[in-house]
Amino acid sequence: MSEFLQRPASDALPTPQEDPAGAGGSRRKVFIKSYGCQMNAYDAQKMADLLAPEGFDETAGPDDADLVILNTCHIRERAAEKVFSELGKLRQTKAERAAGGLATKIVVAGCVAQAEGAEIRRREKAVDLVVGPQSYHHLPDLLRSGAGTLGVDTEFPIEDKFDHLVNASRERVRQRGPAAFLTIQEGCDKFCSFCVVPYTRGAEMSRPVTAIRAEALELAQGGVRELVLLGQNVNAYHGEGPDGRVWSLAKLCAELAEVPGIARLRYTTSHPNDMDADLIAAHRDLPQLMPFLHLPVQSGSDAVLSAMNRKHKASAYRDLIAQIRKARPDIALSSDFIVGFPGESEADFEATLELIRDVGFAAAFSFKYSPRPGTPAAEAAGQVDEAEKRERLARLQDLVEGQRQAFNRAMVGRTVDVLFEKKGRHAGQIAGKSPYLQAVQIDAPEHLIGEVLPVEIIGVGANSLFGRRTLAAGVLEVRA
Ligand code: 5AD
Ligand code: SF4
Repeated sequence: MSEFLQRPASDALPTPQEDPAGAGGSRRKVFIKSYGCQMNAYDAQKMADLLAPEGFDETAGPDDADLVILNTCHIRERAAEKVFSELGKLRQTKAERAAGGLATKIVVAGCVAQAEGAEIRRREKAVDLVVGPQSYHHLPDLLRSGAGTLGVDTEFPIEDKFDHLVNASRERVRQRGPAAFLTIQEGCDKFCSFCVVPYTRGAEMSRPVTAIRAEALELAQGGVRELVLLGQNVNAYHGEGPDGRVWSLAKLCAELAEVPGIARLRYTTSHPNDMDADLIAAHRDLPQLMPFLHLPVQSGSDAVLSAMNRKHKASAYRDLIAQIRKARPDIALSSDFIVGFPGESEADFEATLELIRDVGFAAAFSFKYSPRPGTPAAEAAGQVDEAEKRERLARLQDLVEGQRQAFNRAMVGRTVDVLFEKKGRHAGQIAGKSPYLQAVQIDAPEHLIGEVLPVEIIGVGANSLFGRRTLAAGVLEVRA
């Protein structure tokens, strides 16, 4: 992989000129389907940004696409299986298009590509190219040179992917809306015994502060008001600062809060052991840092936490939450839970329910344990029966759903700042997010999209809150 076009490493990512004719003369269409986490969604956007100067416009489905990219997720078995069923459908689309004289290239990217590149090529001959999550910046070169017809590029590269990415055009940033993802950290060194991430995304790496700030500035100039800082282990961030020292996530947040136009910051996903005192203090001191924290605990049983290699006890998580709440009393919490981890007894599971009752969550993601090839837990004794997992998942989801609804109901009558992001479900409505990441709909004109405005919450639906604009001072106005 030496002959790839080398773009100079620089702090500011170049913004492409979207050549209307495209590099190849006429513009072509790319359909990118992304599965899994927000980091994959960010990568999918970056793929689109890389391909735009190559003459590719995005399209909403595979039928009119000259290039189809599946950006895959390997975190659980079902996520990986979806890729093979999708590829089966794409094989047909490719054949139908070929019968009409149209060529289609199929690319598999993301974590399944990383973990099962050879298997994909063996099982699905319609796939032209397999490219891992650290190598997708090679896509334009592979496609341009035609090497893509047989290429497999899943080696963790020596060079830094981020130096080769391009910023989205202003127009593209505007189209994507006022809340944007920004990857600041990748990979994980934690090796939780159930998780494939350390194997698919590699070792922890933090982007330098200047590169992140430059990307944030570009986004803000395109109308972005909220940055969602992404990393598999985002609060382990330790990037090089402009002063040559190592900066923490707290320090980075303080820096990004100064970017003109940026009103809100969020970060995800975090590990409890990396929630340091500075970051907790930032939740108290930095008004731009939104009072919502996704802090996965996975289980409330010490025995299970130990078998998961989480390296903390349930009591440490409870203590941590108490400290965070002391710093920011209104903070809303969210978590990930795994049920039916090998060896999880009914008593272990009850301990998880007890932790949920004690802490109280505004939202949660919960999963049945899924053995992943190559991870220690997949080989462990005491695998839990599927029916048992299903039953525990239903009980856990009932509990957290009750908490979520109670949290939402408690908003009625309160006035909160809402960042309006898009048109609402019905004509005349716009939709946005509360500080606590709740979807909020109001009747208001479209030109308010991109604004942060105080809204009085007047009703609660299944998945969103309903509100009306109010003249009452919002949090933002008080702070300003
Ligand atoms: N089985 C079930 N859930 C898993 N997760 C990660 N690996 C597995 C697995 N093997 C869940 C964890 C993690 C989230 C992103 O996915 O809860 O926090
Ligand atoms: Fe996976 Fe654990 Fe790393 Fe999260 S901290 S990515 S669960 S290994």
